[in-house]
Amino acid sequence: MADPPGLKKLGERILVTGALGQIGTELVEALRAKYGPDAVVASDLREMPDHPVVRSGPFRHLSVIDADGFDSVVVEEGIAVVYHLAAILSATGERLPELAERINVGGMVTVLEAARKHGLRVYAPSSIAVFGPDAPDVAPQVTALNPTTVYGRTKVTGERLALNYWKQYGVDVRGIRYPGLISWKAPAGGGTTDYAVDIFHSALAAGHFDCFVRADTRLPMMYMDDAIRATLELMDAPADSLGDARVGYNIRGDSFTAGELADAISARMPGFTCDFVPDVRQEYADSWPDDVDDSVAVAEWGWKAEFGLDAICDAMLRGMKS
Ligand code: NAD
Ligand code: SER
Repeated sequence: MADPPGLKKLGERILVTGALGQIGTELVEALRAKYGPDAVVASDLREMPDHPVVRSGPFRHLSVIDADGFDSVVVEEGIAVVYHLAAILSATGERLPELAERINVGGMVTVLEAARKHGLRVYAPSSIAVFGPDAPDVAPQVTALNPTTVYGRTKVTGERLALNYWKQYGVDVRGIRYPGLISWKAPAGGGTTDYAVDIFHSALAAGHFDCFVRADTRLPMMYMDDAIRATLELMDAPADSLGDARVGYNIRGDSFTAGELADAISARMPGFTCDFVPDVRQEYADSWPDDVDDSVAVAEWGWKAEFGLDAICDAMLRGMKS
């Protein structure tokens, strides 16, 4: 399979679904900086006229389970590449499992079918939620995927669909199993790892946070700048360097407990206090691995993280104060 066609060569446009969410807010900004504002069409189910993504370039109101509407946008806008971010995250998904299945699996089918018909390249993220309690503490790239959350099951299905479309139809689809993502430009969107974002907002607003997982809860985490860079690097990698992990690479940022995160914030904000008051999301967090082994991503496309716990805290507090 040849290298990705690349926008620069074809002069064609990018569509981002779920563009108003936590990742989309920053991915659209990065793609518009790289390819130009007009080359990147943002889309979402929500309509937020004042959102920076809507104000900085083209925007289409679009549901990813509306296959005909999706096809029309692809044709009308001259789309060559889709970054498919629209999804229901874990905490919302466990409350609304039918919705999570419909959006996460149904949306993936819409995007892959359009890619097959129109020859699109696709980026579709997966998650550390593909792993279940039987995965090793440091989850390898290849291991049994037995998630206990509905969200995790939709992500496993998404990876399998993506691999099928690659193998059967040659659709160039790529993905990353993102760790919990920490960022300040947009709120976190209803996931279990949201505590690692909310803690910063509460620390600055109130000097206190009630954390919904135990202090000893350890999860893979990553700063958004690393996640965006990983996404762009994976999409730029030559196709023939990628193996079957192409639909869901493990990538490592850092791994820390909620208690270690609270301590790192206290060290920068004397007087900050945190109570640990676990709710149902503890169960989802407990089902995921402590850390991931990202040696396949390192070997196949040179992944290397830049932000550890201290750098994340510094960047978050600096960004939020600005
Ligand atoms: P988010 O919840 O912040 O944003 C998702 C966006 O999708 C929202 O703006 C929402 O309005 C939109 N949306 C929902 N239903 C839609 C529909 N039917 N049609 C079109 N848009 C719809 O989520 P995010 O954190 O930006 O996550 C993006 C992707 O990354 C998801 O696939 C998610 O599973 C994955 N991911 C995120 C994280 C994380 O920590 N944020 C970690 C692992 C994987
Ligand atoms: N951060 C996401 C969540 O907690 C994991 O995919 O749902």
